[in-house]
Amino acid sequence: MTLRWVRSQRAAVVDLGDDVALVGRDRIVRRLEGDSAALARVVIAFLSRPRTTDEVIAHVEALAGPLGDRRAVIEQLLAHLAETGAIANPSVTAPRGRAANIVVAVSGAIAASHVPALIAALQRAGHTVEVALTPTAARFVACDALTAILQREVHTSLWPRAPHAPVPHIALARWADLVIVYPASATTIGRIANGDCSELVSAIATATRAPVVIVPSMNETMLEAPSVQRNLELLRADGRVIVHGVPSQEVAEAPTVRHTIAGAAPAPSEIAAMLDALLEANVLVGRDREGSASAWDAAYRRPLVPWASDTCDPDLAAALATHAPSPCRVLDVGCGLGQVARHAAGSGHRVVASDISEVALSLARSLSDQVVWLRDDICASALAGSFDVIVDRASLHSLPVARARAWATSMRRLVAKDGVVIVKCHRDGVPGVTTGWTSEALAALLPGFTLVSEQAAELPGLTDGTPIPALLLVFRT
Ligand SMILES: Cc1cc2nc3c(=O)[nH]c(=O)nc-3n(C[C@H](O)[C@H](O)[C@H](O)COP(=O)(O)O)c2cc1C
Repeated sequence: MTLRWVRSQRAAVVDLGDDVALVGRDRIVRRLEGDSAALARVVIAFLSRPRTTDEVIAHVEALAGPLGDRRAVIEQLLAHLAETGAIANPSVTAPRGRAANIVVAVSGAIAASHVPALIAALQRAGHTVEVALTPTAARFVACDALTAILQREVHTSLWPRAPHAPVPHIALARWADLVIVYPASATTIGRIANGDCSELVSAIATATRAPVVIVPSMNETMLEAPSVQRNLELLRADGRVIVHGVPSQEVAEAPTVRHTIAGAAPAPSEIAAMLDALLEANVLVGRDREGSASAWDAAYRRPLVPWASDTCDPDLAAALATHAPSPCRVLDVGCGLGQVARHAAGSGHRVVASDISEVALSLARSLSDQVVWLRDDICASALAGSFDVIVDRASLHSLPVARARAWATSMRRLVAKDGVVIVKCHRDGVPGVTTGWTSEALAALLPGFTLVSEQAAELPGLTDGTPIPALLLVFRT
């Protein structure tokens, strides 16, 4: 494939008088003078759109005549630009294609002044954005600037102003695929946590079935206050996504004596990249189980399902052989394409396999008729009966912690007396978008069960299939 280059968002090119400086993260990589500086200006301007090296050379030749042996100069210049990050491969910078309707709900914290950049970053990534503000937020950022970027009115009240949103909180709550509260002040966090819908931002976050991502931003002393921590805990338990803060400066102090504090909202470009990663990984779950099912349906419709495999993992096959030596009733939870269920059926067990995704099930059905394939959400399971062995490969870790209790309730209800639950999931402490577990944490979810075996394992990641450290745990009632 021919390599293409495009100008990135990095502030890496500076005119210093007649010279051009190419600036890396912490040093000047190159200072170009005379003709080299002029050439750099021409090439950088041409790379506002993706181009191959040959196209760049053709462009320069059209302006300056044949380059002959000096083609290497262009290649060297492109290498320097790439080294600073001034240009990048377009696949790195292009939108990832999961465009969403996003409501940016803004409350009255100092980071509200970053919202124009957040909107622009989300739009660049291909998303459609609507903005709602609390009255205090509108004191930190100009609504006129936001309206100019959006090319439509922003929403500042429960009472309608914009004709396209007659009852704004309901219209926006329904329209959204995702609501991000950026920044989330302590006051707004309290309102959302307690279902207080007296103003627009908290009303949208409360009324929507879409996933709600909360980005707290405040002074660390405020963040550590028991009342704020209590409210954040409520939000976590309600399945809201909470983004951790980053170090910043305390604006309440004079500029010359400011010290670094924790708890500020991350920069807009970081938030936009994080949202894309979470959307891509399918881990943002709203209140709507059907919504979650359709997200998994969409994932299984894609040509590549990174976490799936054709054959049963050898460690799971061994665990089944050890703990289910003779034919018995097996339930495969979150079966996906059904490789564990097919293996168990092939070993003589009577197997029921369930998944929230009908698309996954229809693919699984086409591979075997030896298994009873059922659509079911294990967190609100309608399954009946009791199973000697329940296997969960890689579905527990895709649930938010708040839903894991519901998962455990189903496990306890569905497992037979003296039955076995085999769980293979991502391990705690590994960075990523899934919820990792320790054996202790999982044991706490399954009171009355004994942990009979624990071993290190690996499972593919949700985004690209890269192996992620996992645990294979076996519990017996
Ligand atoms: C200059 C200034 C900066 C503020 N910064 C923050 C902040 O970063 N985080 C926060 O939670 N509150 C901050 N506040 C306090 C909130 O604006 C205040 O609690 C307000 O009630 C929030 O209302 P809202 O959530 O309805 O927008 C700040 C207030 C002022 C005057």
